[in-house]
Amino acid sequence: MTPATTNGSTVTAGSVMVSADVPDIAASRSAPVLDSRAACPVLRAEGVTKSYRRGLWPRRRVLPVLRGADLELCAGEVVGLVGENGSGKSTLMKILVGALAADAGTVWAVDRVGYCPQEPLLYDRLTCDEHLELFGVAYEMDPAAVVAASEALYASLGFARWRNARVEELSGGTRAKLNLALALLSDPDVLLLDEPYAGFDWDTYLRFWELTAERRAAGRSVLVVSHFVTDHERFDRLVELRAGKTVSP
Ligand SMILES: Nc1ncnc2c1ncn2[C@@H]1O[C@H](COP(=O)(O)OP(=O)(O)OP(=O)(O)O)[C@@H](O)[C@H]1O
Ligand SMILES: [Mg+2]
Repeated sequence: MTPATTNGSTVTAGSVMVSADVPDIAASRSAPVLDSRAACPVLRAEGVTKSYRRGLWPRRRVLPVLRGADLELCAGEVVGLVGENGSGKSTLMKILVGALAADAGTVWAVDRVGYCPQEPLLYDRLTCDEHLELFGVAYEMDPAAVVAASEALYASLGFARWRNARVEELSGGTRAKLNLALALLSDPDVLLLDEPYAGFDWDTYLRFWELTAERRAAGRSVLVVSHFVTDHERFDRLVELRAGKTVSP
């Protein structure tokens, strides 16, 4: 593992998960890469710090969010990232995938990381099919593999009938399904999901957990931001963000 230094933080080289043709989504879904083939860890963060600057001079304030957060994810693990609203879960996930620069710290990850952001980053004027096709190109997938994976995801998440609808016509739950499908499309080794099932109906919620269990069984890793105590038994372990640091609750 040979991390590189970027903007004060240390991350590994950029991911191949996104295309330069889609810069906004590329920024949010790209992931740092490492060349490790080791089963554990497949993702590791050490001493990550991040502050946001708010307001304008002379009333400028600095808001420290992460104060040395550490995290490790192994192959075949499903880990819950928990913490109260505003504790920095989304900030940490963005740093883990390389969408946001940390002020300090180090992140390593294997080269195939998928990311489902808390706010779906979708194009209003494009259809579901067009999104999947676009991301398939961005992930450098074979077109036949994109079609096969898309069909499986439509069937699995139950939104095939919306395949030709533009995003602007979709309900919030269907947008969430598309958001998750885009993260799953290339079958990444590590999946980072930021409250992925907000808006899912009950059947889809249960299907989501089946998909997660299938990934665990296949040796894939999943990190899920969750607020629901009822989900906790579905995780192999929990990591809590508290006062800017990660702790085991
Ligand atoms: N771009 C930004 N500029 C300034 N402050 C920000 C920015 N993004 C997040 N924050 C602040 O950083 C803190 C952590 O935000 P973050 O979204 O990471 O929390 P979270 O744990 O994901 O919360 P939630 O459970 O509500 O999703 C919050 O106080 C938030 O207001
Ligand atoms: Mg969040």
